[in-house]
Amino acid sequence: MGSMESGSGPVLCIVGARPNYMKMAPLIRAFGSRTDLPPIQLIHTGQHYDPLMNDQLFRDLQLPAPDVNLEVGSGTHAVQTAEIMRRFEPVVDAQRPSCVVVVGDVNSTIACGLVAVKKGVPVAHVEAGLRSHDRSMPEEINRVLTDQISDVLYTTERAARDNLVREGIAADRIHFVGNLMIDSLLAHRPRAVPAVESIRRGGIAETELRGWERFAVVTLHRPSNVDDRDTLAALIGTLVEASERLPLVLPLHPRTRANIERFGLTSELADRRILLLQPQGYLEMLGLMSAAVVVLTDSGGIQEETTALGVPCLTLRENTERPITIDQGTNTLVGIDRRAILRELDGVLTNGGKRGRVPEFWEGRAGERIAAHLAGWLSDRVTQPAH
Ligand code: UD1
Repeated sequence: MGSMESGSGPVLCIVGARPNYMKMAPLIRAFGSRTDLPPIQLIHTGQHYDPLMNDQLFRDLQLPAPDVNLEVGSGTHAVQTAEIMRRFEPVVDAQRPSCVVVVGDVNSTIACGLVAVKKGVPVAHVEAGLRSHDRSMPEEINRVLTDQISDVLYTTERAARDNLVREGIAADRIHFVGNLMIDSLLAHRPRAVPAVESIRRGGIAETELRGWERFAVVTLHRPSNVDDRDTLAALIGTLVEASERLPLVLPLHPRTRANIERFGLTSELADRRILLLQPQGYLEMLGLMSAAVVVLTDSGGIQEETTALGVPCLTLRENTERPITIDQGTNTLVGIDRRAILRELDGVLTNGGKRGRVPEFWEGRAGERIAAHLAGWLSDRVTQPAH
């Protein structure tokens, strides 16, 4: 057994995969602007490692280079999670951190949270309490378990508290702070790369650009949508039909690109009004989403970003862990049925789609709120030890 006492060392901030970076960047900035917090160390697990999935986003978001990179890479869920834990443990032993901060719902989130809590190091979870209520989704398992072992839980929307309290989490651990992802969006929107530049760079000739003034952005990477051949083939068939209505810009996640090739579906997408792109930078993605007529996606973060941007979003899933984007925002849950997707798309093209409003505390100050709270919480722990 390791030490059961947290140390007085740095706050370790964990990132692993692409959607973590836009949440951690404003938090690191907010932590850095306070003098009443211990020093910060940025730990990268290496879950995502491709330059386009990783380095580009670090640059765009002005994230500092990680202090430690665990370089775990890809693997099955068990292997990846175990390997992160194995490599993170010595870091915790050496640093004796005051606290470990994890964000979101990726394998790195649960792996590092679990290592910390078993060593008596407090865990703060940012984006706590979101629930799709779908346990076949790997992220749902990560969310439920991370929340159970966290000492401080920061939420992005008020409904998250109800989910947590229902699962037995003490209400005084839960703090509604707003959405860090929207802190990043608001900070970087002025520097967004115009969509036309990304479309041109993607290979659309100057003479054809006029046909790309109105377009939809599509992203797909959920295992449930892209790992099964029939499901992916049907979705691609639907996208081909959708592209007869307006051109589609489709940045491909490595998982999706690999499966399209493995299933022999590449030719289905060729010579269509579907522009396949490499994973885009953050500033490119902001530009593309802002200018899109509509976004079709199975991502979690993009449902929130489109709500903040006021762009209609059709979510190609049966459920969402981010219900506020439906109740208040521009999101519509459509599923993956061909007729449903085309019907909703036609609706948007006819009437402009859902308008929505920007939810409470999605105004760019979530990082400040978390930093202020955590500073107070850590100093209370020092003066009045919990145990
Ligand atoms: C992970 C997260 C998911 C998040 C997504 C964003 C989990 C359980 N899932 O899914 O919540 O929405 O990141 O992208 O943590 N690969 C590369 N290069 C990379 C990273 C991955 O080629 O830099 C390929 C590998 O072949 C790998 C596959 O993509 O097997 C999946 O990567 P992995 O990190 O396991 O999960 P994601 O699908 O990216």
